[in-house]
Amino acid sequence: MPICLAVLLVAVAGIAWSSSRLPTQFSALSMGEPDWGSGGAPAGHAPEADGHGRAGHGHAPGNPRSVTSLIADPARPADVRVDLVARQGEVRLADGTTVPGFTLNGTSPGPLITVTQGELLEVRLRNENITDGTTLHWHGLEVPNGVDGVAGVTQDAALPGEDYVYRFVPTHAGTFWYHSHQVSDPQVTGGLLGPLVVLPASGPTTDAELTAVIHTYAGRRTLNAQLHHPAAPGSSVRIRMINTDPGPMPVWVAGADYRVLAIDGRDLTGPTPVRERGLTLTAGARADLEVIVPEGGARVQVPGAGIVVGEGGPEGTPVPADRVDLLSYGTPAPLGFDPEHAARVFDYRIGRRFGLLDGRPGLWWTINGRIYPDVPMFMVREGEIVRMRISNDSGDVHPMHLHGHHITVLSRDGVPATGSPWHVDSLNVEDGETYEVAFVADNPGVWMDHCHNLRHAREGLMTHLMYDGITTPFLMSRHTGNRPE
Ligand code: C2O
Ligand code: CU
Repeated sequence: MPICLAVLLVAVAGIAWSSSRLPTQFSALSMGEPDWGSGGAPAGHAPEADGHGRAGHGHAPGNPRSVTSLIADPARPADVRVDLVARQGEVRLADGTTVPGFTLNGTSPGPLITVTQGELLEVRLRNENITDGTTLHWHGLEVPNGVDGVAGVTQDAALPGEDYVYRFVPTHAGTFWYHSHQVSDPQVTGGLLGPLVVLPASGPTTDAELTAVIHTYAGRRTLNAQLHHPAAPGSSVRIRMINTDPGPMPVWVAGADYRVLAIDGRDLTGPTPVRERGLTLTAGARADLEVIVPEGGARVQVPGAGIVVGEGGPEGTPVPADRVDLLSYGTPAPLGFDPEHAARVFDYRIGRRFGLLDGRPGLWWTINGRIYPDVPMFMVREGEIVRMRISNDSGDVHPMHLHGHHITVLSRDGVPATGSPWHVDSLNVEDGETYEVAFVADNPGVWMDHCHNLRHAREGLMTHLMYDGITTPFLMSRHTGNRPE
């Protein structure tokens, strides 16, 4: 080949390489390209339905607001106060063995935080010795954006010896969890997480309840709950299952029927008894199961671990082949908004292709064909109804998680949802699937929208939903400082 051609090729490759390198520091505000979606509303509903609007076009966004101003009323005293000390070191498992990892107040999972709907919760996080720094994100809770706990987007990571205070009033009763959002793949995998339950103001609906955190430590599947939960036959027990692992988890009950009372902290309407079927619990997701304790007891199972409720329950049952389909489980009820009047329609197409991520060649995840950080930023205005089509053509399953909102499933592969309203914050999108979802943009901020297989997030399957007029002073940096993934 002529020398000049070779030089040209090397130069082109060099430019591609260096333009894929992440800047030392960068802002969530200037990643990729703003994507305003396409207009979905009939005339008169969307102020700007041409699909190519930009900030400042149409009606002005008003004064920009910083994420740091999006907080709970600072004058309101806390109803519940919790101190959490994060530490890097050893995690002691229930069987007495220890593995390297992260603890909160000496344990992993960290303590169960319980708060009643409407109360103001204040959590003071202290980083004792985690050299990378740490944060806490409140997974599934519609907190004010300023306390969302994403390093480089809503705060700087708390370095060793530093504190960070989170204050919010949970809007919905249900099962949630908290975890680090700084260098989150190793920190969450290593156990920097814990359960959070918001009790309904109207009191419990079952006789007893327990919270079961599913987490795999160094290859060992654990269910952090009382492994034997004594309960009288005939009594009802709510089992709050939380999947903190990176992949979908089958859960089932041996020896009894169960009902799915809630998914991702949202009650289902008209849940019917399930027999000999499992439920797929998405990575990051929660399911509240209700068991009426039978004479011989029952066993709540995940592969490799279980909890006995009552006397005993059959041991060693296989994973049921049949699964509950939440698309048609329960009975319909009003959604609370009309997805037909969406102001914007977005595509979130997950793919995979060869390219450069931060200068490293590889087969990387793509969002609408683009590789991180050159990914679309989904732009909305407060109050809009938004639809999103999430499709996956990447050869792997992705548990897609949007911060600060619940999305409502409208259809899967063109089949409309016919059961209970199915509101989620974590959605299992299998290879080849397409979901249509909708939500109301009612919580201004800059909100991560990423895969909760945190290794995939680190491999670039991460973007955000951004409200027009919201800014952040925080910066991400791949090599030092804030690394939310
Ligand atoms: Cu459970 Cu972005 O996180
Ligand atoms: Cu993924």
